[in-house]
Amino acid sequence: MMNVPTSEYEDLGRTALEARKSAYTPYSHFQVGAALLTEDGTIFTGGNIENAAYTPTNCAERTAFFKAVSEGKRCFTALAVAGGPEGELPTKFCSPCGVCRQVMMEFCDPKTFQIVLVKGNGAKDDDFKFYTLEELLPEGFGPAILKRT
Ligand code: THU
Repeated sequence: MMNVPTSEYEDLGRTALEARKSAYTPYSHFQVGAALLTEDGTIFTGGNIENAAYTPTNCAERTAFFKAVSEGKRCFTALAVAGGPEGELPTKFCSPCGVCRQVMMEFCDPKTFQIVLVKGNGAKDDDFKFYTLEELLPEGFGPAILKRT
């Protein structure tokens, strides 16, 4: 189920489009940008960071999360993601990979955390898709499962 778009998250989407410029992608030339909104209103951006050994590559979403967590943030409201070939506006939605969804599960409430996918220049309503984390990672494994009752 899609959630009702809000202008706040549309701005976050456009910040993710802008964050694509920070990507380091000499191998795939596929640039992803992410913009992570904390509960206190701070935005952390990230780009994907590739590596000659390929597997150490870090997705844009995790770059944004790790920047925020390493600055002491623990409570998050929404994450916007935009990705596509270098040098052009994305024509398709770029949905977070499974590893990034699992990282979100560590820090976010799956029922309320909003994931905003954005394409184009983020100017039209149909440039956006909105999901909760639970919709993208149903029955996710998170910290609550490790707590003894
Ligand atoms: N990538 C991301 O940064 N986020 C995603 O959600 C999917 C994939 C990156 C990893 C790699 O640098 C490039 O996109 C191609 O897979």
